[in-house]
Amino acid sequence: MAKVHIMLLCTLCALSLSSLSAPQPALAASGPDHLDFYMYIAVQNNSNLDNPNVTFTAVQSAQPLSTQPNSFGIIHTFDNPLTSAADLNSTQLGHVQGWYGDVGQNLLTLFLAQTFTWNDGTYNGTFSLLGVDVASDAVKFAPIVGGTGDFAYVRGVAQQSLVSTATVNMETVSWFFYAIDFVY
Ligand SMILES: *[C@@H]1O[C@H](CO)[C@@H](O)[C@H](O)[C@H]1NC(C)=O
Ligand SMILES: *[C@@H]1O[C@H](CO)[C@@H](O)[C@H](O)[C@H]1NC(C)=O
Ligand SMILES: *[C@@H]1O[C@H](CO)[C@@H](O)[C@H](O)[C@H]1NC(C)=O
Ligand SMILES: *[C@@H]1O[C@H](CO)[C@@H](O)[C@H](O)[C@H]1NC(C)=O
Repeated sequence: MAKVHIMLLCTLCALSLSSLSAPQPALAASGPDHLDFYMYIAVQNNSNLDNPNVTFTAVQSAQPLSTQPNSFGIIHTFDNPLTSAADLNSTQLGHVQGWYGDVGQNLLTLFLAQTFTWNDGTYNGTFSLLGVDVASDAVKFAPIVGGTGDFAYVRGVAQQSLVSTATVNMETVSWFFYAIDFVY
């Protein structure tokens, strides 16, 4: 009988010790299954750098030594706002930072490496996208490869499509729509 009590005590001790010493994992059962949002991008025009009125969210940060077809080899660095509608005055949801490189020799193709920092008042955290898209595709698909905070350990697939594009102050200014499905 005493032996059973000691065993029970030891088991309880082990259980409470393990729950005390275990680091709190950043589990993300609370993350969303789906998000819809818009991204704004204004690409600085390297032939028109002197206009003080111009604001931009992306700059060209590398190019090949000789000009290539389909902008092959050019890399842009960006920090783009994320909003609830295709309007800079709509609700701010976060921002997305990273690089896109032109990687297609026969077709304008973008390689995207970017992290979304999300803070919409409900969810906080980051999720990262890595993938290739053909610029002329109506809908582009790319994997979500991980996340932190409310998005910890997430995977998913992002659908991206161009909503509008215009030349403003000699810059290309565009809105993109994102629809992302998440699994944890
Ligand atoms: C910048 O904006 C100001 C105020 O709207 C305007 O007077 C000026 O001409 C603009 N400059 C250029 C280079 O467009
Ligand atoms: C956003 O709101 C400000 C102030 O209300 C206004 O001046 C500006 O034109 C608006 N911008 C857009 C893109 O609607
Ligand atoms: C999200 O993060 C911001 C800034 O760090 C904080 O003020 C806010 O309370 C957080 N919201 C939630 C829902 O965790
Ligand atoms: C960039 O600026 C140059 C001249 O300054 C202009 O000819 C060209 O059309 C501009 N590019 C875009 C995309 O607006």
